[in-house]
Amino acid sequence: MNDVSQTTAPAREASLKNRMAMYGNNRLQIGLFGANCSSGRAVTKVPERWSGNWPDNKKLARMADEAGIDFLLPIGRWKGYGGDTDYQGATLETFTWACGLLASTRRITVFGTVHAPLFNPIIAAKEMVTADHIGEGRFGLNIVVGWNEGEFEMFGVQQRDHEQRYEYAQEWIDVIKMIWSDKEDFDFDGAYLHMKGIRGKPKPCGGSRPVIMNAGASPTGQAFAIRNCDAFFLQASRTSLDETAQRVAKAKTQAKEFGRELGVYTVGVVTCKPTKKEAEDYYHHCIVEHADWSAVDGILALKNISPDTVPMQEFLLKRSQYAQGMGGLPIVGDPDHVARELIDLSKAGLTGIAISLVNYIDELPYFCDEVLPRLQRAGVRGQ
Ligand SMILES: Cc1cc2nc3c(=O)[nH]c(=O)nc-3n(C[C@H](O)[C@H](O)[C@H](O)COP(=O)(O)O)c2cc1C
Repeated sequence: MNDVSQTTAPAREASLKNRMAMYGNNRLQIGLFGANCSSGRAVTKVPERWSGNWPDNKKLARMADEAGIDFLLPIGRWKGYGGDTDYQGATLETFTWACGLLASTRRITVFGTVHAPLFNPIIAAKEMVTADHIGEGRFGLNIVVGWNEGEFEMFGVQQRDHEQRYEYAQEWIDVIKMIWSDKEDFDFDGAYLHMKGIRGKPKPCGGSRPVIMNAGASPTGQAFAIRNCDAFFLQASRTSLDETAQRVAKAKTQAKEFGRELGVYTVGVVTCKPTKKEAEDYYHHCIVEHADWSAVDGILALKNISPDTVPMQEFLLKRSQYAQGMGGLPIVGDPDHVARELIDLSKAGLTGIAISLVNYIDELPYFCDEVLPRLQRAGVRGQ
């Protein structure tokens, strides 16, 4: 693997611009998604599936940091999905996970994923500032509003209706941004939050604030992201690069209307092996033959997707999409193919991609050794 640890002790200024560039010069940023959860994002029974435990997370983060991967994005998940593997049944809480990893690494950006309705914003703002200081400006926030009813019931918190979730999140993020700014001793009196004499010190590193991302899929969720966030995750089309390019351009244009620069990202599921056949065989082995179908069906049921609610063909399609990476874009092939797909996504205007692997530690070295240099040669990643 490329060892950049000797060369990238970053002379960092924690400006928002540098934070958004993740302190690098990669036209296509690459992150790892879901490593804080058991099984990661592969709903599979294969024995080498991801443990999600702390030693593996720490090892992975250091490996990724040294190899030049740009970011780590965890999943805020409180309750597993059951099935034969209790898919994502063991998860590391994302703020504390981020703190540990930021202390163990030197240049990689680490996100915390926060359910706004479950975290008091004063506490969340301070936890995030603490993480940001530990990482010297490398903490990022993924704000989520929640969708999984069972998780909220476990907290004894009533899930709001969909529109209200984002209205609440708007107040939540407004308060947090104010705490992170120079504002002192202010009151906030919104429709949901009523707070007096708010004060929060220290401020985030560098007189700026952590990068904020969101992955709302609904029009309301997308509008929220475009209004408030620096990074927006959207679903890439599985069939048309032009369609992906249009989605990206639309999001960026909408952000410009609000005077905002928006990084647009997507989610991918990579299986990269020396030959196309090996990659396709391994994919089939993990994601078809040994998929944890009972977990997949449980997840689909939570989203109200079943043969009773959608046509059978659509159900079967969703079923296979959710087995591999919960719907992320599958990128399966040899290094040339994987690199080409990533280059195409960059050409479609994407700022970055969060990928998952079946076993991150086993598979990352090959990806970094073979795919990253190809991306560098294509000018998609810095030297
Ligand atoms: C990259 C990415 C990360 C996400 N992370 C989480 C998460 O950690 N926890 C969660 O409950 N939802 C997560 N989501 C779900 C979204 O935040 C969002 O709720 C979902 O896409 C539905 O969109 P909507 O809220 O606009 O209906 C994630 C989605 C994506 C694409």
